[in-house]
Amino acid sequence: MATTLITGGTVVSATGRGAADVLVDGERIVALLEPGSTVLGANLAETVDTVIDASGKYVIPGGIDAHTHMSMPFGGTTAADDFETGTRAAAWGGTTMIIDFAVQKFGERVPESLQTWHDMAAGQCAVDYSFHQIIGEVNKESLAELRRLPDEGITSYKLFMAYPGVFYSDDAQILRAMQTGADTGLLTMMHAENGPAIDVLVEQLLAQGKTDPYYHGVARAWQLEEEATHRAIMLADLTGAPLYVVHVSAKQAVAQLAAARDRGRNVFGETCPQYLYLSLEDNLGAPGFEGAKWVCSTPLRSREEEHQNQVWQALRTNDLQMVSTDHCPFCMKGQKDMGIGDFSKIPNGIGSVEHRMDLMYQGVVDGRITLERWVEITSTTPARMFGLYGRKGVLAPGADADIVVYDPNGHTSIGLGKTHHMNMDHSAWEGYEIDGHVDVVLSRGKVVVADGEYRGRKGDGKFVRRDQCQYLI
Ligand code: URP
Ligand code: ZN
Ligand code: ZN
Ligand code: ZN
Repeated sequence: MATTLITGGTVVSATGRGAADVLVDGERIVALLEPGSTVLGANLAETVDTVIDASGKYVIPGGIDAHTHMSMPFGGTTAADDFETGTRAAAWGGTTMIIDFAVQKFGERVPESLQTWHDMAAGQCAVDYSFHQIIGEVNKESLAELRRLPDEGITSYKLFMAYPGVFYSDDAQILRAMQTGADTGLLTMMHAENGPAIDVLVEQLLAQGKTDPYYHGVARAWQLEEEATHRAIMLADLTGAPLYVVHVSAKQAVAQLAAARDRGRNVFGETCPQYLYLSLEDNLGAPGFEGAKWVCSTPLRSREEEHQNQVWQALRTNDLQMVSTDHCPFCMKGQKDMGIGDFSKIPNGIGSVEHRMDLMYQGVVDGRITLERWVEITSTTPARMFGLYGRKGVLAPGADADIVVYDPNGHTSIGLGKTHHMNMDHSAWEGYEIDGHVDVVLSRGKVVVADGEYRGRKGDGKFVRRDQCQYLI
């Protein structure tokens, strides 16, 4: 098996940083060593197959994006990245594992939906992957099937309080699912927005001729995120289900999570880069139909209401624990443009899987979070949250050699024709400049990105079975 030594870098973990060389044998890390170590008198660098010089650079565990939707059928179309293009873009950006969502649609059976997602991903991925299970119809059968998910290596499932007629669950269904989830040791993930109320506002806005993308953000008011977040927390409280709220954007929803955590509850929250950088006014409110690029749910929030600062702060204070992308890309032409003249027909989703590590690193440069917190919210916590830690999320002997060499003196210009490997005709991040650069990426010991070149292969990424959430006492 091939051996690799990553030498001269600063190894950064969730808890600290220090000079160390990382020795990789085959797919695993075998040792972290004092820089320049000799073994039995031999200079290690002369005995390994490959030496990667990381001088002046950070060496970090590969990113884990725990919220992606490759090839997701949604909004009358299908997300533009499949598992091949999406995981390749992830690798380019220093993300070495994704957790995607298998979708049980209304009227479908859970095992079949999971098999469909396995079939879509197998042999296609550049980096490792796993699935959460979406339950789009809570009934006797799907509840029974929830109990069998751990046998499939799947320990989390997602419900929707939004999208009536598509994935929506009412409170009775949520209660029953949470009871089963609690009983089975599953983490309940929640899309927390009050869907029925949103639908009324959508109908009223359209009737008033308010059809532009901007009104997507008006209809999905923060009150409806706060309310749903609170309701989810209370139902979780009652049932003893650990709860993970996805794509949190409103500062009021953050406050609900913080209050529940202050009461000692197993309540967790994720946010996404779009809620940290983009806004209702600047993006959804862009001239003409341009704002459609940024139609996603929960929506971008008002700059004037100062949500962004609060969400950054929550990341710092651990009221929010991690950052995923909710990568769900749609092209403007042929997809987003279905909603010209009716914002409710714009497929919901933004593509960011390639840029999460960079965008969050910019938070370090800007003094928003520490270097260690960057590693924690992008890799270590996702690993612990979703039962992967030890194998993923850490550079330690025995861990998979999913490693990123990150150059703090490098630079990344985001946009079409620059760094854009996602299957989309636009970038939601066009023009963003990052004071750092993903230099080398290893996936299970193999260099997949180096010297500005992609060296991976589809099919190298494998399905990873997961244990229970590692934050539960
Ligand atoms: O706009 C979004 N978030 N699209 C993906 C589906 C979801 O709700 O996560
Ligand atoms: Zn969602
Ligand atoms: Zn999503
Ligand atoms: Zn570079």
